[in-house]
Amino acid sequence: MKYLVTGGAGFIGSNYLHYVVNEYPDDQFVCLDALTYAGNFNNLLPIINKNNFKFVKGDIADEKFINDLFDKEKFDIVINFAAESHVDNSIKNPGIFVQTNVVGTRVLLDASKNHNIKRYHQVSTDEVYGDLPLDRKDLLFKETTPINPSSPYSASKASADHLVMAYNRTFDLPTTISRCSNNYGPYQFPEKLIPVVISKALKNEKIPVYGKGENIRDWIHVHDHNVGVDIIVRNGRDGHVYNLGGHSERTNLEVVKTILKQMQKSENLIEFVTDRPGHDLRYAIDSTKVEKQLDWDRTYNFEDGIKETVDWYLDNQEWIDNIKSGEYKKAYKL
Ligand SMILES: NC(=O)c1ccc[n+]([C@@H]2O[C@H](COP(=O)([O-])OP(=O)(O)OC[C@H]3O[C@@H](n4cnc5c(N)ncnc54)[C@H](O)[C@@H]3O)[C@@H](O)[C@H]2O)c1
Repeated sequence: MKYLVTGGAGFIGSNYLHYVVNEYPDDQFVCLDALTYAGNFNNLLPIINKNNFKFVKGDIADEKFINDLFDKEKFDIVINFAAESHVDNSIKNPGIFVQTNVVGTRVLLDASKNHNIKRYHQVSTDEVYGDLPLDRKDLLFKETTPINPSSPYSASKASADHLVMAYNRTFDLPTTISRCSNNYGPYQFPEKLIPVVISKALKNEKIPVYGKGENIRDWIHVHDHNVGVDIIVRNGRDGHVYNLGGHSERTNLEVVKTILKQMQKSENLIEFVTDRPGHDLRYAIDSTKVEKQLDWDRTYNFEDGIKETVDWYLDNQEWIDNIKSGEYKKAYKL
């Protein structure tokens, strides 16, 4: 089988490729990535010389480029990780979120339809469901929960999901969608909570926490997410949506304190800052469907996973320094 994996130079996509390129030596994996500010070619160095891996630089929303690539490569499977992914950026500049997350998905869907792709998989997010109240621990997002996004980011991801479902229904394109909770692990761009906390704590800098840090996220290790994506792509039912969650709800403040404790740093580094507009209160995922139907489960608990993650960032400080200095942009040469 030949796979197109878009957004594979980002956090989750690169971890996915590290896993599948080694796990399935008889399959071919082509990574397509525009190398935006969030794309880091260094993330692909562990697999760059593998015979079953190839990198192509390009934009998923560039229709001619995408059609030429599909003509040439004759993919069997398409997995779309590519996205603008940072909620704060979507509040400042929603346009690029619509362009990549909505238009880009539409371009990939048309190319998949016109090239008789065997499976199109959309990597989506629990944020499409909106949020849950803090005081109703009994409520969880199910696949049947109405779509109700709050930010331009989640609205663009929700639009993409609707397009995927429409192409399945209207054109019989074989599709699946996974909606996952907050990921943590190696190679996460240092704009997101966990790498921000680690890199600031290392330098004894103040750590900004929105509002009172009460917002709750369900944390999942990126490897568990990617094993779920792989299982859904291989065995998921055509036209179905699957939720993936970590069973690890924590407030943002709890996450920050856990990391500081592990790094033996003072909680005095925490600085509460003005809350994000429209900040979702709580996300919590019910993954029963994928557990029961496809036999997926997590291998990490949050405490062990976060310890391993902190150790990875401490062992790979050059990776973060390269991003901070802009040096990482020189890693890809034509
Ligand atoms: N990070 C999370 O916690 C999380 C949780 C659930 C779902 N997701 C989804 O998973 C996917 C990957 O998220 P991530 O955290 O790895 O994001 P990321 O920002 O780290 O990576 C995104 C990648 O997409 C690439 N990209 C952006 N625009 C592109 C374009 N127009 N054409 C080609 N490539 C482009 C970037 O260069 C980057 O390599 C996204 O679709 C996101 O919505 C993320």
